[in-house]
Amino acid sequence: MSAAMSLCCLTPAGADGLRDTVLRDAILASGFLPAEETHIEQPQDLVEVGKLLFESRLLSFNNDTACASCHIDRFGSADGIVNAIGTEGEGVGSERVLNGGDIVPRNALPFWGRGGIGFDTFFWDGKVDASSGYVISQFGDRNPSTDPLVVAVHLPPAEIGEMVIDRSETEAMQTEDVETANKLYDILTARVRDDDVLGPNLAAARQVEQGDIQFLDIAEAIASFIRFNYRIGQTRLHDFVFEEAKLSDQERDGGLLFYGSGGCVTCHRGPYFSDLDFHVVPFPQAGFGRNGFGVDYGRFNVNLLEADRYAMRTPPLLNVAKTAPYGHSGSIPDLKDVIRAHIDPLYAIDPSKMTLNDRNEFYGRLRLWAVSPLNGVVMSEEDVRDLAAFLETISYDSEMSVAIVD
Ligand code: HEC
Ligand code: HEC
Repeated sequence: MSAAMSLCCLTPAGADGLRDTVLRDAILASGFLPAEETHIEQPQDLVEVGKLLFESRLLSFNNDTACASCHIDRFGSADGIVNAIGTEGEGVGSERVLNGGDIVPRNALPFWGRGGIGFDTFFWDGKVDASSGYVISQFGDRNPSTDPLVVAVHLPPAEIGEMVIDRSETEAMQTEDVETANKLYDILTARVRDDDVLGPNLAAARQVEQGDIQFLDIAEAIASFIRFNYRIGQTRLHDFVFEEAKLSDQERDGGLLFYGSGGCVTCHRGPYFSDLDFHVVPFPQAGFGRNGFGVDYGRFNVNLLEADRYAMRTPPLLNVAKTAPYGHSGSIPDLKDVIRAHIDPLYAIDPSKMTLNDRNEFYGRLRLWAVSPLNGVVMSEEDVRDLAAFLETISYDSEMSVAIVD
């Protein structure tokens, strides 16, 4: 190499170019794809009626809650609050917290990329999971569909507190088993069938007689809407990787950490920024918890494997800048704090405010985290800021706007 050549490559532009190339290669090696390569074509008429169903209160037993009550555009298709509030809730965001209503002991999940190609595991604990090629869910051998998103859509209307009111007069509907769910689906289906708008539109989109509409048609339509509306869009990171566009220096440094020494890509990889697998990251627990008294055993609740106690599905990170608060119980309001809490679990808790029971639970989670690749990662405050800046590059907008149904 001539002296002139090596001089050229030491200029800042040359070093920047090299860093861009390293980052692009690492991103591609993680399985990142052009947005369209994750899309599954959806019939437009089914998407349209799916959107109306998503916005309809008819899908809650007591006619007071819609999917759109908790999956809200303004909060990046989540609800902006710590634990979700279902039946009898009113308003959105902090207003909903003040008004009371039934609490669902987990943080609402957003929908970005859900049901795209290869996205086969749903909910924090993966209670609907098709990663083996077969759907495993609480329907056992009576799964309503081989499409895991369609099965996932069946669950919220049958969940107590989420869309079935938690009161004595609905006691008959409160056993969460397959028979009760099917009885409930028959009631909800009859309402949709008889609705002047939903009935004819759904029948036409599914090419069935209006009188023959089944709950499966409703779930297929909502799944179709979710797949289309929240499908991966062109983000600034896609522009960088596939169109040679620039990131800011800070975003690029954050990217190099994400795919390099920060170790984030071990779990947050692929087009959805998730391995769709389960890991223990000991975030503080907010609220009552799925298992009660501030405990959420996560994946263990589904598969009863000791190694999976407290494990949660790695959350996909598309649009993560819009979906605060974070974690399975919504306990962390700030994106930078979530990053810090991965590598420094004590950062986010105040042991003096915890009961002995809470502390014991926390030690249990810490024990599992201690053997994970996160234990030992060291980051400066600047690194944390760079990572947060990098996470802002994977934002995009939904295809349609969802009505507010509070
Ligand atoms: C009370 C608020 C609330 C309502 C109403 C609600 N959801 Fe959700 N949604 C949540 C919460 C909380 C979670 C996370 C639950 C969990 O993982 O345990 C979630 C998760 C999901 C997921 C899984 C997403 C993923 O990343 O795996 C899907 C799909 C979903 N909801 C669809 C719907 C549909 C369809 C409706 C309407 C029929 C609906 N939700 C109504 C709060 C709500
Ligand atoms: C060992 C696997 C693993 C690694 C490595 C990892 N994460 Fe996570 N991440 C998770 C899990 C699991 C959760 C959810 C934990 C919970 O809620 O209990 C999570 C949550 C998050 C969230 C919150 C998302 C939401 O919607 O609530 C962000 C942001 C995040 N991780 C970013 C990062 C960054 C940045 C790095 C690198 C510094 C990283 N993660 C490394 C597994 C991992």
